[in-house]
Amino acid sequence: MLLRSWGIAARPFCIRMPDISSYVTCPWGVRGYHLHQRVAYLYYSKRLALPNLGFWAEFICESALPALLPSSTSRLLALRSATMLLLHRAMVLRLQQACRLKSIHSRLCIQACSTNESFQPQRPSLTFSGDNSSTGRWRVMGTLLGLGAVLAYQDHRCRAAQESTHIYTKAEVSSHTSPETGIWVTLGSEVFDVTEFVDLHPGGPSKLMLAAGGPLEPFWALYAVHDQSHVRELLAQYKIGELNPEDKVAPTVETSDPYANDPVRHPALKVNSQRPFNAEPPPELLTENYITPNPIFFTRNHLPVPNVDPDTYRLHVVGAPGGQSLSLSLDDLHKFPKYEITVTLQCAGNRRSEMTQVKEVKGLEWRTGAISTAHWGGARLCDVLAQAGHQLCETEAHVCFEGLDSDPTGTAYGASIPLARAMDPEAEVLLAYEMNGQPLPRDHGFPVRVVVPGVVGARHVKWLGRVSVQPEESYSHWQRRDYKGFSPSVDWDTVDFDSAPSIQELPVQSAITEPQDGETVESGEVTIRGYAWSGGGRAVIRVDVSLDGGLTWQVAELDGEEQRPRKAWAWRLWQLQVPVPAGQKELNIVCKAVDDGYNVQPDTVAPIWNLRGVLSNAWHRVHVHVAP
Ligand code: MTE
Repeated sequence: MLLRSWGIAARPFCIRMPDISSYVTCPWGVRGYHLHQRVAYLYYSKRLALPNLGFWAEFICESALPALLPSSTSRLLALRSATMLLLHRAMVLRLQQACRLKSIHSRLCIQACSTNESFQPQRPSLTFSGDNSSTGRWRVMGTLLGLGAVLAYQDHRCRAAQESTHIYTKAEVSSHTSPETGIWVTLGSEVFDVTEFVDLHPGGPSKLMLAAGGPLEPFWALYAVHDQSHVRELLAQYKIGELNPEDKVAPTVETSDPYANDPVRHPALKVNSQRPFNAEPPPELLTENYITPNPIFFTRNHLPVPNVDPDTYRLHVVGAPGGQSLSLSLDDLHKFPKYEITVTLQCAGNRRSEMTQVKEVKGLEWRTGAISTAHWGGARLCDVLAQAGHQLCETEAHVCFEGLDSDPTGTAYGASIPLARAMDPEAEVLLAYEMNGQPLPRDHGFPVRVVVPGVVGARHVKWLGRVSVQPEESYSHWQRRDYKGFSPSVDWDTVDFDSAPSIQELPVQSAITEPQDGETVESGEVTIRGYAWSGGGRAVIRVDVSLDGGLTWQVAELDGEEQRPRKAWAWRLWQLQVPVPAGQKELNIVCKAVDDGYNVQPDTVAPIWNLRGVLSNAWHRVHVHVAP
């Protein structure tokens, strides 16, 4: 239509709307994302009814904006979105005029299609060539567009607020639970159509789908991270109306605080998130003892802590074909031979905060304390599986674990390990009921948890309720859509969780716990302390420490705890006492560990950065001042 009025297209012009989905996948939390969401919604809900809107958006985005903007994805995306809004408004005419002015100097190549019978929809392709003055005009036009976009965005906000006065019954809302019907949710008295947001939900589409057709409150109560102004702002973009006042009864799902029954925690813990509870011991306490005292053992919960009655507790073990399923009480578990082993647990997100310094990642800001060591007691998993008739088979199989912690829909935490590891007596996988000689504390899985020596913490399923052997890995979100590593160049636009294996054995790791970053140390002598550990039972054979950022190294003293070959399940604490070089005002202390496979930590974070911030094991660096 517009092109014809330019006299460029002689025939009736028909343009296929571009697939806007390519514009709406972008990193979370950036401003551009919010704008994008808004535009995507308007576009799909046909509120942006301007003919050829998609064409014009593409035209501006592919031809004009790249020339005007720095290549920051979020800014580009934001401006793309803003431009689309802008085109919806009166700026189209100005654009038209501006283009008329420059059409003499520019060559506009259009590949379009007519509306005759042989019509095959085609994506329009546009190229511009022009001299410097035309580029200049484009820059002016781009500036105008940007300004107009801001105004249009604001204007849209006001109009959207006025428009959203539709009243819906609860029954209507509850009938919108699929992409076909639209996916609606409520918060308070407001109704939202989140159909287009579901695939972009940071916690995965399945998590948001749990709330489809009903209130968000039970889920927000569970994942408190949602209750923030920017999330409310994002949600506001999807508002389509209000709930019928008569329907404003208490939601069907229990919304009372699901964390109200969580245990009391030690005040020394550094809390990374209260709900669900995630906390780490401060570095100075972490390596004070080889065995971490239970109250300060790091805690990584994804859900509220279940309150399990030990008297009625049963562990369900699904039997092998021809074998028998088991329903084991705590007493039954105690009848299996008891094994005791010292095992270090490390979360895949340990030291994530260092990755965040390189580039934003999604996840809790763990420092060096998402790791702890305990002496565990319990039955061997291989013994329990054998009683249920399982044995090692030639085909691949996995032992899937389900916790008793679940969200309001009953979805439990889950994870799996290969059957080969579970059945291997040498792997010493435990169904632990004791931690440092005590019944497991509630935060750490009371009454029974899995302990998988040498393997990432995520597979040590707490509050264990069910064990089964499956041909494939657990279908849990935490097995398939989390706890996986990717190349630094993979972002949230391109990540394919199915393409990467789940993390099992962790790489070699070490960190300095004393002194701490920014501290002032005495001149004379300094004592440096820390921990070192490697996955898969690989023993730490050496820790190198540098005071000059890695130019020269000294070997630290490892503590005396014995490590069994191929079963070095626990960390080594280490220390180095060294004179502070005379006249030195500051020290750049670095540590790196070497395991018995001669695996060494990488020197910097950037090459191992990944979007989830897992497997962060670069040389640990601490900068300290020296007292005069
Ligand atoms: N098991 C259940 N049932 N629920 C959980 O949230 N978190 C896992 C794992 N087992 C989790 C779980 C993760 S990610 C880690 S790192 C370890 O437990 C942490 O164990 P901890 O809290 O005892 O330190």
